[in-house]
Amino acid sequence: MSVLIIEGGRPLRGSVDISGAKNSALAIVVAAALATEGECVLDNIPQGSDVNTICQILQDLGVEVWYDDQRRLHVRGETLSKHKASYELVRRMRASFYSAGLLLARLGKAEVPLPGGCAIGSRPVDFHIKGFAQLGAEVVIEHGYMKAEATRLKGAHIYINRSSVGTTINLMIAASLAEGTTVLENAAKEPEVVDLAIFLNGMGAKIRGAGTESIRIEGVEKLRGIEYSIIPDRIEAGTFMLATAITGGDVVLRNVVAEHLRVPIVKMEEAGVRVTRSGTELRVVAPRRLKAVDVETLPYPGFPTDLQQPFVAAMCLADGTSVVRETIFDRFRYVDELRRMGADIKTEQNTAIVRGVPQLTGAPVEVTDLRAGAALAIAALAAQGRTELYGAEIIDRGYEFFEEKLRSLGANIYREQLTNPRELVIK
Ligand code: EPZ
Repeated sequence: MSVLIIEGGRPLRGSVDISGAKNSALAIVVAAALATEGECVLDNIPQGSDVNTICQILQDLGVEVWYDDQRRLHVRGETLSKHKASYELVRRMRASFYSAGLLLARLGKAEVPLPGGCAIGSRPVDFHIKGFAQLGAEVVIEHGYMKAEATRLKGAHIYINRSSVGTTINLMIAASLAEGTTVLENAAKEPEVVDLAIFLNGMGAKIRGAGTESIRIEGVEKLRGIEYSIIPDRIEAGTFMLATAITGGDVVLRNVVAEHLRVPIVKMEEAGVRVTRSGTELRVVAPRRLKAVDVETLPYPGFPTDLQQPFVAAMCLADGTSVVRETIFDRFRYVDELRRMGADIKTEQNTAIVRGVPQLTGAPVEVTDLRAGAALAIAALAAQGRTELYGAEIIDRGYEFFEEKLRSLGANIYREQLTNPRELVIK
């Protein structure tokens, strides 16, 4: 267990490199194992525990996965042999369920533990399972596992009941090697879906329409390994923009695709932040004090649910009251922790009403989930005094070199490892 210690009150200044997109990496690393010829060499893969977990799951299934000395990730799917994914590994991270699409496409058989709920609500995979069945798999749910079989998946016309990134990704992976054509209606349009389609087409897949609500996938016989560099992480970029905004800072973010952040940028400009783009750099200059702004989270290109928590944190010190409506998940548990720092937030069902306060004060707080951790760190950077974020290892799931990047921008932040209390010997 680790604790992040932050002494607040310093404006962030300088420039920082944004890493590769975690949610693109998780999809593309799995899809790379679809290749039966050669190997995939993946660049810009962020270091983090979620990426490590997906690599371990692939290795457990027989796939060769390794980093070279330039930290490029090599994936050789030819040796994929095991059709049952390990519960101990899958339980750590929901995106592990992408292994079901891979196993069905490659081996015609998959036994994958159903992902449980998580800190941001119950996150069923019923759309994924329905899609596999529509692609011709015999699916049985028993003992907490999805067991599915199909000699070869057959293309189908699938309507996904609501915009779902994971379902779109899992079915694209499964349908790439199916017999015939699959159409995914009401598909998710997130940049990570587009990144996956570009990657798969480079391997020899035939996918059209990614980024729109209708994706057409013509199944092919086999896919071959390629070199590929994944897109930058729009959520990390948004997180650093908000950290700059709340601390009255002036920061240049490097390696950013501004189009992926169109709505968050509009919202931050409404709050008084000056954002100027030059190529793949974004300069973020904060006002002395932010103005309160209303937000509703929506599927892409709307305001991303993963920036809801960092945004609410920034609004705690804004002038006025902001209303934040969360339409995707149930992810307000972190609000109790912000209140302990002096925030004035009321939550009613899926809405947070954030009344700006003159200041926040540091406090010991609990990190409940990845983006909650980011939100609490953002609040701590602007709070008076010391904040201790317990469970900070959760932040490592999706932010590469988090405290190092913040420290390089002038933040007073460091990490302490806590011995497991159970190991404490009472003399
Ligand atoms: C992906 O989760 C991301 N994770 C999430 O990021 C992100 O918040 C989410 O998409 C929304 O953008 C990864 O990419 C690994 P969904 P996912 O399927 O795929 C419901 C982070 O912090 N649904 O788009 O799980 C679901 O409950 C994480 O990086 C079903 O009902 O999200 C939700 O209400 C958090 N049945 C909505 O759809 C299903 O079978 C959208 O979920 C699937 C989803």
